[in-house]
Amino acid sequence: MLVACSGEGDTEIVKRGFERAERQLSNQLKAIPEPTDYPRTIGKDGKLKVTHKNDWTEGFFPGCLWYVYEYTGRENWKDAALEWTEALEPLKKLTNHHDIGFLMYCSFGNAYRLTGAEAYKEILVESARSLCTRFNEKTGSIESWNYRKAWNGKDEWFYPVIIDNMMNLELLYFATRVTGDSIYAQIANRHAETTAKNQFREDYSNYHVVNYDEETGEVLHRATCQGFSDNSAWARGQAWAIYGYTMAYRETLRKDFLEIAVRTADFWLSHPNLPEDGIPYWDFNAGQAGYIPDWDYDPQKFKVIPCDASAAAIAASAFLELADYVTDGKKYTAAATHILHSLSSPAYLAEPDTNCNFILMHSTGSIPHNQEIDVPLVYADYYYLEALMRYARMCTR
Ligand code: GLY
Repeated sequence: MLVACSGEGDTEIVKRGFERAERQLSNQLKAIPEPTDYPRTIGKDGKLKVTHKNDWTEGFFPGCLWYVYEYTGRENWKDAALEWTEALEPLKKLTNHHDIGFLMYCSFGNAYRLTGAEAYKEILVESARSLCTRFNEKTGSIESWNYRKAWNGKDEWFYPVIIDNMMNLELLYFATRVTGDSIYAQIANRHAETTAKNQFREDYSNYHVVNYDEETGEVLHRATCQGFSDNSAWARGQAWAIYGYTMAYRETLRKDFLEIAVRTADFWLSHPNLPEDGIPYWDFNAGQAGYIPDWDYDPQKFKVIPCDASAAAIAASAFLELADYVTDGKKYTAAATHILHSLSSPAYLAEPDTNCNFILMHSTGSIPHNQEIDVPLVYADYYYLEALMRYARMCTR
């Protein structure tokens, strides 16, 4: 498979990233030999923290194994990827939240892409059917979470849709492509159109959460759950938007989706608060005047604002794809290259056998929840490897 890159670009980072991935993932496989506990992060006790097929992140670990297999071509990685993917099959029936897209497409999607096995296609189509059960014609969107309350303890979110949901649409576009049934893509398009209408601000930053009235389709609240404040730009939410609309353009060739991808990417790249190394703070507006959190924020605890390597990895992967769809794509290629060099440096790439054997350091899960602050996250590793693969492909063209 991929042996070396030639042409433009420094492909040494690809080799370094995948060598580190092989070392770290081999260690993780030794630490948790059975596909029951899926690596997620480091816990507050400093130990590896796992999830048990009941969260949104289980697809990423097998996804990492698939990328390492794709890069190395070595059968041992395929065997591990198959084992950790197939154990997720029961999740194809999951209907109690929207993240079945992440869970199944990062695992079975890569499995089908790299093996062509028909059984995986069927599992993915059934997963898409499960996701469609959360679509409501009135709101024109897929419900992300079930009922919950906002941080202010007053607002009730009856039909919350979060920007992350754009990522789950890839599963639906796939289902239409392989079945010929347009219903999945129709739902994906409706969701992307509704999100475009209701979830963005004039500057193309976005609200993390939009809560709808499911009887009338009316927007009831625009708020945050994981960002700094309702009016701030949560970095990972921005990355999900860039990636989501770039993917939606790939699947539909709709110019309105491409425009959102470009505008959301340009918001990121032109932001005065983007650090030199290209790795964003966890929220572009964290701690700034005019942004008032509803959660229990103590500025003394955040004299140094944590960054989010996961947001950077997602954005890098999206920038590399977006670069191919526009005439002035070089700025996106340059941004992705810069991010990947930063992530592949000792500042973010974990030393071998450290970091509970995750690949990257310094991500942020959710500061308002006081969870996963300046830690590794399995999805940072996944999108880093995906971006390195895209970067390698770009260098060999
Ligand atoms: N989808 C959840 C997150 O981005 O943290």
